[in-house]
Amino acid sequence: MPTFGLNLNPRLTDWTGQRVWLVGASSGIGAALAQALLVKGANVAVSARRAETLATVIDGYPRGVAMPMDASHPQDWIATHTTLRAMWQDVDVVIFCAAEYRPLRPWDVTADEAHRTIETNLGSVYYGMSTVLPSMLSRGTGGLVLLASVAGYMGLPNATVYGPTKAALINLAELLYAELHPRGLGVYLVNPGFVKTRLTARNDFPMPSLQSAEEAASAILSGLARGRFEIAFPTMFTRAMRLASMLPYGLRLTLLKRLMKAT
Ligand SMILES: NC(=O)c1ccc[n+]([C@@H]2O[C@H](COP(=O)([O-])OP(=O)(O)OC[C@H]3O[C@@H](n4cnc5c(N)ncnc54)[C@H](OP(=O)(O)O)[C@@H]3O)[C@@H](O)[C@H]2O)c1
Repeated sequence: MPTFGLNLNPRLTDWTGQRVWLVGASSGIGAALAQALLVKGANVAVSARRAETLATVIDGYPRGVAMPMDASHPQDWIATHTTLRAMWQDVDVVIFCAAEYRPLRPWDVTADEAHRTIETNLGSVYYGMSTVLPSMLSRGTGGLVLLASVAGYMGLPNATVYGPTKAALINLAELLYAELHPRGLGVYLVNPGFVKTRLTARNDFPMPSLQSAEEAASAILSGLARGRFEIAFPTMFTRAMRLASMLPYGLRLTLLKRLMKAT
């Protein structure tokens, strides 16, 4: 039977003993989510490039393990996955949280900056997906959680490279859901509004409805427990952004030009 409601995925309620690989977990939302999952009894492997910072995230949590890696390197995904499978047999849930963001106007973009951001934010998801999917598909169970953003709903000032990577992740999550849900897997799309982290510390404008990383982690866990496909928060802000993205181009682009001028 087709499901037309909001709860399109397996509900992730009991984390006890679940094997979670969280990539992009050395700070911000990823770090807060890793700690919340560890408190709930999951085994959590945290990955990112900064090894010492990762170690502090899992400090005091016996079920946590630090696996430093660069998510933009396909071979790092394969090597870390091999280590995790040797340790845990397999991985139940992969959370793709790694991202780069620098506020950039179109004329400030360099090829290097564009390449690095696209590789980190989008390439990494393909590298991770191609690494973990064969074993998840053969078991007919598993979950992929993609951290996109409301910046992916439509073009926004400063998000010249970041925004399109997040729009691509929204597109990717939709098609992954359609392909993988019938094969027993869950695909969860997370679209946060503004969260106070190292990433948004680069913004020099007032961020509406700013949340803490801990509030973001709690909203994500609540969405996963409900089996939501899209987990968007805070509700009012993300709904307003979604509505704005549905305006006819004539109106939307006029508003966008005003916003670009104002920033
Ligand atoms: N903060 C917000 O308002 C907001 C809003 C919407 C969506 N998001 C999304 O939420 C996710 C987490 O962001 P955040 O706000 O928590 O920012 P953050 O604190 O800067 O976290 C980004 C994480 O990505 C890791 N990372 C970056 N490049 C990497 C690479 N090449 N390989 C491995 N790890 C890498 C960073 O660790 P290392 O530097 O140690 O590698 C860090 O752990 C991102 O996907 C972001 O786009 C954030």
